[in-house]
Amino acid sequence: MSELNKIALKIISNGKGILAADESTATMTNRLDSVNIISNEKNRLLFREILFSSSSMKSCIGGVILYDETIRQKSSSGKTIPELINSTGAVTGIKVDTGAKVLAGSNKEKITEGLDGLRERLIDYYNLGARFTKWRGVYKITDRYPSKLSISANAHALARYAALVQEAGMVPIVEPEVLMEGSHSAEDCFNKTSEVIKKCYDELELNKVELKGTILKPNMILSGSSSSEKLSSTEIAEMTLKCLKDNVPSEVPGIAFLSGGQSDIEATSNLNQISLKNDTNFIMTYSYGRALQQSALKFWSKDINNKEGTQEIFDHRAKMCTFASQGKWSENLEK
Ligand code: 13P
Repeated sequence: MSELNKIALKIISNGKGILAADESTATMTNRLDSVNIISNEKNRLLFREILFSSSSMKSCIGGVILYDETIRQKSSSGKTIPELINSTGAVTGIKVDTGAKVLAGSNKEKITEGLDGLRERLIDYYNLGARFTKWRGVYKITDRYPSKLSISANAHALARYAALVQEAGMVPIVEPEVLMEGSHSAEDCFNKTSEVIKKCYDELELNKVELKGTILKPNMILSGSSSSEKLSSTEIAEMTLKCLKDNVPSEVPGIAFLSGGQSDIEATSNLNQISLKNDTNFIMTYSYGRALQQSALKFWSKDINNKEGTQEIFDHRAKMCTFASQGKWSENLEK
């Protein structure tokens, strides 16, 4: 087993999943504004340190994705944040893209940037304790989009990123996110997501990326958030599994879904059905941002000194998601 494959498996085995806490300062500011908390360095660290020192870190969380600001911070105990995360048995990860910018040639779409200087930045992150990374390509669905150009340009960037990350001794999370926003059908989402994922693996192969040392972070197949079509978790699971079986090479060890704006319960219930129906060799788990954090954030904002109460809420969500990744979740467990 290669070293990279070992790291990937450590992050996602035994029902463990990933805590995506890599919101950029701008995104984190939106999240904190929404609960009337001032977004400064101290408060961002305070909330994140509460999560990283919760008990579910040991039992449920295999990896944490950080943002540049956080990987350089120290916890209240004096440990660096990567030391705190590693002490729980989880692996430290880092978002290395520099965000999605307007795509020249199709200026209503986005291209993710951050390849220039990436080789040097990766050495720095490795030395700070990171052993896996994330890069997110983003695609919207309308009658015209995603365009061939955006599918091709983002796949190319994801593959060049993944090759550089492996060269630096870390596991790349490949995240092509087809957004839920819009009035499209689940069938549209299925078709577009299939095309996007297929193109990513064509490029990964061309760039000689060792697939066993990667993790895919895709969206689930859902109808658009403003569509009237409502699918059951079973239907979502069936379409999602078909899309992944058709387009993801079997060498990929695991798939960790993003929550993408689904409610906590939707993200949990859909993952549970995917795990129950999983007839592939891929490990299926979560790499959730909002679906792990939003209830804890809301509670914390009422009293930012209530560490235990906030951890209880976060631990519950992490436990529910870990049950779901093993197909052992049911609505009753939420009570
Ligand atoms: P959500 O689960 O909130 O979609 O965040 C996951 C993520 O890392 C998106 O890039």
